[in-house]
Amino acid sequence: MARIIDAPLTHGESGGCDPRAVHGTWGALNAAAQRGLAYTPAVRAKADALYERVKHVVPAVEWPAYAPLIAAINEMKREKNAVILAHNYMTSEIFHCVGDFRGDSLQLAREAAATDAAIIVQAGVHFMAETSKCLAPEKTVLIPDLRAGCSLAASITGADVRLIKARYPGVPVVTYVNTSAEVKAESDGCCTSSNAAAVVEWAARAWNSDRVILLPDEFLAKNVAAQTGIGIVAWHGRCEVHERFSVEDLAEMRAAHPGLVVLAHPECPPDVMAAADFAGSTAALQDYVVENRPTKVVLLTECSMSDNVAAAAPDVDFIRPCNLCPHMKRITLEGIYDALKHMQHEVVVPEDIRVRAKRAIDAMLALPKEKPRAFATGRPEAAVELA
Ligand code: 13P
Ligand code: SF4
Repeated sequence: MARIIDAPLTHGESGGCDPRAVHGTWGALNAAAQRGLAYTPAVRAKADALYERVKHVVPAVEWPAYAPLIAAINEMKREKNAVILAHNYMTSEIFHCVGDFRGDSLQLAREAAATDAAIIVQAGVHFMAETSKCLAPEKTVLIPDLRAGCSLAASITGADVRLIKARYPGVPVVTYVNTSAEVKAESDGCCTSSNAAAVVEWAARAWNSDRVILLPDEFLAKNVAAQTGIGIVAWHGRCEVHERFSVEDLAEMRAAHPGLVVLAHPECPPDVMAAADFAGSTAALQDYVVENRPTKVVLLTECSMSDNVAAAAPDVDFIRPCNLCPHMKRITLEGIYDALKHMQHEVVVPEDIRVRAKRAIDAMLALPKEKPRAFATGRPEAAVELA
């Protein structure tokens, strides 16, 4: 049985150590009741088998709060030919009990392109839903909460990218998937943290350039520069979740937990990446834990990841500094229920933008499919030019 050890850092408003407590188990109970749903024998028959998947994080006493919503969502998916794409940062009752496709942003983009469902419900943030819409324009893409944004996506606009391009003519532009469709539309290629180094190398080769513009995450840009040796022009965007991890936190965790294996997401600051044992996208972190079974591990990324990976690695102890993404946590079971029931919040991308954004996403998807690429740790910080 995985042991979740709470080791809270001082993280202001998104602190707190139970991601489910953010919207509240009892809130979910009320939410079910308000929607005329109850934990009846019929619901038990439909949903209780799913409890096995989350029993390591959801106490048995809380299950009756979630089961009616889960049963109703799974029924509506069948009736309406809908699928739920669940990002690795979703709380476990969403990730394991209603998600049809689960993974990192690259895996979810591939699923959006491939699914023949009529409706996609994006259990993730707005840029992910836009990416799905760009790839699957004939499908209805719903997001349970329109406020589920992202500090990186909010840090840059299409107009900013046009100005940068004017300053660096002939230098290819790669934008991180964590951007709006409008920003992707201005770029030559798109990347995720699973393939950022591969896409940057492709852009440098294809444009015969010794520099690549990589927007908008300054830390990801520095981390990619350290991997590739390619000159990077960057922007000053930051992930409000990953920027808070520090080498001091890390040293405290190592001192408190001898033998701890530290895994970091490449949106973390370069000095944190250098001090980690392994680094990569959320999919790469998941693969590392499942394949290597460290005795004790900490994932320097969003808090819910540990809960979700723990299901596949029950013998691993997770040290869990609580660092929640307030945007991801806007997605709740009741929000998903309402989205499907009322066909609400449809994500629309203007066609001219969609076509140009899709070109950038397709350039990424056309690269040879490879395992999520790990970032080598222990490297000195690389200099980048800030646009
Ligand atoms: P991944 O592409 O690794 O899933 O990351 C997305 C994200 O938003 C990380 O904060
Ligand atoms: Fe954006 Fe950071 Fe939240 Fe990921 S964790 S969605 S990068 S704010």
